[in-house]
Amino acid sequence: MGPHMKLRQPFPPMPLPAALLLAACNVPAAAAPELSVFGGVLESRDGMVVSAYPDASRAGAEALRAGGNAVDAAVATGFALAVTHPAAGNIGGGGFMVIRFPDGSSTVFDFREKAPLKAHPEMFVDENGEYSSRIHHRSHLAVGVPGTVAGFALAHEKYGSAEWAGLVAPAVALARAGFEISERLAASLARRLDAFRDYPATFAQFFRDGEPYRAGDTLVQADLAATLARIRDRGHDGFYAGETARLLAAEMERGGGWITEEDLARYRAVEREPVRGTYRGYDVVSMAPPSSGGTALVQMLNVLEGFDVAAMGANSPSHAHHLVEAMRRAFRDRALFLADPDFADVPVERLTSKAYADEIRGTIRAEAAGVSRPADVAGRPGRDGTETTHYSVVDAGGMAVSVTYTLEGGYGSYVTVPGAGFLLNNEMGDFNARPGLTSERGLIGTEPNLARPGQRMLSSMTPTILARDGELVAVVGSPGGRTIINTVLQIVVNVVDFRMSPADAVASKRLHHQWLPDVARLEDGYMSETDAAALAAMGHEIAWSTRQGIAHCIFVDAGTGALVGVPDPRDGDGTAAGH
Ligand code: GLY
Repeated sequence: MGPHMKLRQPFPPMPLPAALLLAACNVPAAAAPELSVFGGVLESRDGMVVSAYPDASRAGAEALRAGGNAVDAAVATGFALAVTHPAAGNIGGGGFMVIRFPDGSSTVFDFREKAPLKAHPEMFVDENGEYSSRIHHRSHLAVGVPGTVAGFALAHEKYGSAEWAGLVAPAVALARAGFEISERLAASLARRLDAFRDYPATFAQFFRDGEPYRAGDTLVQADLAATLARIRDRGHDGFYAGETARLLAAEMERGGGWITEEDLARYRAVEREPVRGTYRGYDVVSMAPPSSGGTALVQMLNVLEGFDVAAMGANSPSHAHHLVEAMRRAFRDRALFLADPDFADVPVERLTSKAYADEIRGTIRAEAAGVSRPADVAGRPGRDGTETTHYSVVDAGGMAVSVTYTLEGGYGSYVTVPGAGFLLNNEMGDFNARPGLTSERGLIGTEPNLARPGQRMLSSMTPTILARDGELVAVVGSPGGRTIINTVLQIVVNVVDFRMSPADAVASKRLHHQWLPDVARLEDGYMSETDAAALAAMGHEIAWSTRQGIAHCIFVDAGTGALVGVPDPRDGDGTAAGH
C-alpha cells in the first residue's frame, strides 16, 4: 500500500442521488449540498466541487458529504458529467487527473486515449492517397481507445476512500431516471439536429420523436444507464470487457473503425510524475506528457518570472506583448518536441528549466513582436477541438484534484455506441495528419506525434494545482484546445502578479497566441481600442474572439482558509457545490 492509500470507508451505494430524491419530494434544501446560484461564487470550509453542470457538482459534493475524499468526489463528478454534459463529459473519451495530497506531495493520472493496434502514420489518407480531414476528424477511424473509465478506476483504486459502486450510482440514476435539461444544453443539442441525423443512435438518444428537447424537459438515457450499471458493478471490466466492449467493437466493425475487443482489453491508464515548477515562490503542479499543457505552462511562467509583470498592469499592451512572446516560443517548442513519452524522448526537464527560460527571455524585445517561422518545424500546427471540460475538487482534509477530460470535438465523433448509449471521441484528430505533410490549412507532419499502434495523441489539457509555503492556493484548468494552456497561464498570472480576487482572476479577459498562425486573439473587451492599436504598433497582428475557455476553479482564501468555488461566468451551467 502506497503512502497515500487509505482503507476503504463504508459508503453504501445510493439508489438515487440524494439531490434527485430531494427534488422529487420537494424536501427543503437543508440536507442537500449548498450550490452556487446561476454560476456564482460559493464559499465553503468543508469541501468543494466546481463543474460544468449542477447535477454533476452535486454528485461530487454528495460523495464528500458521505465521507469520501477528493478523488472519490472527482470520480462521482466525472461519471455524472458523462450523463449531464454530453458534449464533453464522457466515458468514451479520455483525460488527465492531477492530485495534490494534504502533505504537499502530488501525482497525476494519464487516461488519454490510445491509437488502436492497427494504427499507422498514413492512416488518415483516402482511397486516392490524399490526406482526408474527414477521416482524421469525423469517422470511425478518428476514434481513439477510450481511457476515462480506466483512469477513474485506477485513481480510485490507489487513492480513493469510498466504495466504488456508490460513486457511480448517482450517474446511473441520472441516466435512468433522467435529469432536467438546461437552456444551454437544449440549445446545444438543437443546433445538432441536422448533424446528428446521420448518426441514428445519437439522434435517438438526444432527440425525442425527431424533435429537440426543450429546457426543463427530462432527458432519460436508458442504454447509458445500463452501461454505467455494468461499470458500477464490475469497475474497469464493466467497460473494457464483456457487453460494453462487445458493443463498442461491433460498432467499430460496422462503421469501418479499427478498435477491437483486444484494443479495449489492453488499455491501461498510467500514473505518472507531474510536471512541477515554481513561479515567484508559488509551486505549480501540472500535467506531464502526453499533454503539452504542464510543460508549456511552466516554460511560459519561467520566462515571465524574469519580467516585472505586475508593473506592466493587467491587460496593458506591455503585458499582452510579453504574454504573446512567451506563448510564441512555448508553442513552437510544443510542435517540435511534445508527444507521448512512451514513444518519444520529450525533453521536459530542459524545457521547464530556469536556464532555458533565461535563454528564451534573451530573445524577447521589449516593444517589438517576434517572428514565427513555419520552417522551424517544416509544418504548421493542425487544429484541435475546443470542446473539453474541466472540474476542480477539494475535500475537507485539503486533498485537491484537478481533472480535465474530453471527447475532443463537441460530442466527439457524433457516434453513439448502439445499445451502450455513450458517445465516442474523435481524439485521433490530435495526432499529426501525415508524415511531413505541410499545408497552408495548418497541418503539421513532425515525427513525434504521428499515429502509431498504442500511442497516445498529444494534448493541450492543463489541469493544474497552485500552492505556496506548503498550503494549497488554487485548483485550475479549462477546456479550449490549445487555448487551454494560455487560459491557465493567465489565471496564474492574475493571482500571483495582479493579486486579483478569485472571481476576477477567472472572469478577466484572456488572449491567445499559438506561434502559428502568428495572430494574437484577444477576447472581446480584453483591452481598449487605443491599447490594441499600441499592441499592433509593436508588430502584432490582432484578431478578436468571443470567448476563451471555461475555467471552473477553486481557490483557498488566504485570510480565512475558506474554499472559494468559482464557476467560470462564461458558462451558464457551471456550478460550485459545497457542504
Ligand atoms: N482534445 C483537446 C486536447 O486534448 O487538448
